[in-house]
Amino acid sequence: MNAAVEWYHGTDARFTDWQFPPPPLPEKKGLRPHSAVFLTSDLTLASAAGQHLCTAQLQPSARILDLRRLSAESDTMRQAVGRAELGNHCLWTHSVVDWCVGWNSGETMRFAPDRSAFSARLASLMPPAELAKAGSRAPKHQAAWLELQNLTRDWIELIAVTGRDLGYDALLANEVDRHRPGPPIACPLLIALNAKALTSPNWIFGSRGR
Ligand SMILES: NC(=O)c1ccc[n+]([C@@H]2O[C@H](COP(=O)([O-])OP(=O)(O)OC[C@H]3O[C@@H](n4cnc5c(N)ncnc54)[C@H](O)[C@@H]3O)[C@@H](O)[C@H]2O)c1
Repeated sequence: MNAAVEWYHGTDARFTDWQFPPPPLPEKKGLRPHSAVFLTSDLTLASAAGQHLCTAQLQPSARILDLRRLSAESDTMRQAVGRAELGNHCLWTHSVVDWCVGWNSGETMRFAPDRSAFSARLASLMPPAELAKAGSRAPKHQAAWLELQNLTRDWIELIAVTGRDLGYDALLANEVDRHRPGPPIACPLLIALNAKALTSPNWIFGSRGR
């Protein structure tokens, strides 16, 4: 079933084949890089990621873990993520039920800080980051916003690295989209971990972001 699903990838770049890790891009300057490639079967979410759109399918031979299913394999992944310092301070790793519920709602793609001193420093960044989101160009506010962006990226990267270490080629999950009109919606997410996961990109011409 998975192999037949058409997965979309939105991007401002054009390329002939997937690269792991993706090449560094000038527009992502200051953001820590991801080693995985992200796709969704939700056209609206993919279109928001860039002005070009391509599709790909999962390779039938790919080793895939569906994090939305309550399974021993997903729990092994949760425990492995929780052994890293960042993962240990993230509430999603503290219970297998929260882990599974979060991957279904799509909230697990965001770091959920615990009550430790480690997390208190992150919480202190939120007020200045909110000011940056509201339009402040003050360097202190911009730096806080960037650091929180990178925290999310570090968390997602930890998921990707752990999945790869456990021998998977791709992870299936959901990601919450809060930006479209209406209530937040959980969109299917494919995290491709290496070149064995995907067929080559097939470009949809005339595609534009939202
Ligand atoms: N892009 C999507 O369609 C998409 C789908 C689902 C979720 N997301 C979410 O958006 C966040 C950022 O995703 P992103 O896709 O911008 O990744 P990213 O921030 O890691 O940026 C990497 C960029 O490199 C580009 N790239 C250029 N040449 C490439 C090549 N040869 N192979 C692979 N990639 C190449 C990608 O298209 C992408 O724009 C993710 O954390 C994920 O949660 C994005």
